[in-house]
Amino acid sequence: MRWCIYNAKHILLLGVLMATDAVAQLADSLAKTQVTEGELSYKGQGRKFDNMVKEIQEFKGLQALRLEGNTYGVEAAQAIAKALETKSEFKYCYWSDMFTGRLRSEIPPALNSLGAALMTAGARLTVLDLSDNAFGPDGVKGIEKLLKSTACHTLQELRLNNCGMGIGGGKILAAALTECYKQSSSQGTPLGLKVFIAGRNRLENDGATALAQAFQLMGSLEEVHVPQNGINHPGVTALATAMQHNPQLRVLNLNDNTFTKKGAIAMAQALKHLRSVQVINFGDCLVRSEGAIAIAEAITEGLPILKELNLSFGEITGEAALLVAQSVEGKATLEKLDLNGNCLGEEGCDAVREVMDGLNMGDLLGSLSDDEGEPEEDDDEDEDDEEEEDDDVEEEDSSVNQVSSPLSVPRPPDASSFLCFPSPDKLLKLGTKRALLFEQQVDVADAGKTAEAFLKISSVYNEEDKDVKSAVLDSIGKDAILRKAFANPSFQGYNFISSLLVMLGLLKSEDKVKPVRVVPGHLQTLEYVVRQDYFPQDHIAVLEAFMSR
Ligand SMILES: *[C@@H]1O[C@H](CO)[C@@H](O)[C@H](O)[C@H]1NC(C)=O
Repeated sequence: MRWCIYNAKHILLLGVLMATDAVAQLADSLAKTQVTEGELSYKGQGRKFDNMVKEIQEFKGLQALRLEGNTYGVEAAQAIAKALETKSEFKYCYWSDMFTGRLRSEIPPALNSLGAALMTAGARLTVLDLSDNAFGPDGVKGIEKLLKSTACHTLQELRLNNCGMGIGGGKILAAALTECYKQSSSQGTPLGLKVFIAGRNRLENDGATALAQAFQLMGSLEEVHVPQNGINHPGVTALATAMQHNPQLRVLNLNDNTFTKKGAIAMAQALKHLRSVQVINFGDCLVRSEGAIAIAEAITEGLPILKELNLSFGEITGEAALLVAQSVEGKATLEKLDLNGNCLGEEGCDAVREVMDGLNMGDLLGSLSDDEGEPEEDDDEDEDDEEEEDDDVEEEDSSVNQVSSPLSVPRPPDASSFLCFPSPDKLLKLGTKRALLFEQQVDVADAGKTAEAFLKISSVYNEEDKDVKSAVLDSIGKDAILRKAFANPSFQGYNFISSLLVMLGLLKSEDKVKPVRVVPGHLQTLEYVVRQDYFPQDHIAVLEAFMSR
């Protein structure tokens, strides 16, 4: 069942169209002529929405409701809630991305009424998916009651990707899960949450540590995904301890957090206790050589059914990588080993390939094309001392989320690594010179590369996060890449637009370009850009023509 009140993407696109007066008229006439697209109108919305509430009401034995990809205000949520009040068999809330464009203040009351209805109905939930609703800490308050109630005693999957929970939201969530566990246990049916997903939420050490305590208590987790949360070694260590108490753990994804040696060793220690783990994603986690060696040891000793190991982009040197490669010997279930983006050097890469070939696993080794090369010999001596210092800094001020470097000269922030794997944290870490760094990195004479950089940077845009928002806009529009590109008389603006449309999947190209996954940030940034003085009017019309389809 997929409800369509109106297409959120079109609303955003309309924002782009409305960007200038000249185009506003065009958009207007377009809206009038297109009958099907015309359901954007409030009239259409009203008609459909009444249908929807009625259909929910009349659906006997309703178990699942998909609200994702639409947008609902408080009143709409209340009307849906009313219709849910009698659905005692209800189990699956697929409610991701359902508040696009709403004020943040609307979300808690909307969630509250939906939650209250489920409690009234006596529903027993299996899945609660609220991903991609940028509701922030207050949004967590909106589901707090529901999470503590009997409706959630049966919960198996909790999905809260990309919700902007922050430390505060993480703590509220942890307390609610703890309460739910205690209540349900006292009734003889303890909460057995299996899947927990909360990537990109800025949980940081304190949020992660609070959640870790709840995880430890529950002990039922099979999949934990908390990538990109600015977690450093104290938070990683807390999670490691918690994971030891979850013997059914199959998937552990901590991609793009910052382990450093301490966190990685704690995690390796935890892995020794776990027998069911199949997927380990510690890519982009700065596990470092010592961490990799500890993890290799854990793999050699245990993890009998390991399928995937990602230790990419972790500043791991050749010898440590070699130990990792040797550790997968005899793992008949192995499907993928990713050691890309480390510091193996050419010889190190060859040695790792040789070991994997020798194990008849050559084809399971991922590409090593982004290897950073061996670190310089002279700097090895200082490595340990410096790491300890760096770790202390992290402890004192975890919010700054420092990344330490094994080299004695601090490595300058790197625009190219951001462009490979964009994350809001990395963008912020580039510092105030980020616009300049991108200008140096991106060949703005090349329209295709400029479009690609545009999409990479704008993908991390976050309306709710002022710092990230202005970092994105500064890097792209205000005085950086695009201004520079369009200022160049020989810049092929139409090529830029068409590259953009191809990458967004709105225009077919002969060279099979794989479209990116379109995220709101792309369109929100575009909306900003088309309003800038350097953006040619006639280009907007072209954009308009394609996007209106
Ligand atoms: C491993 O992590 C890196 C860095 O985040 C990512 O780019 C890569 O796709 C991951 N590899 C696999 C096999 O998932």
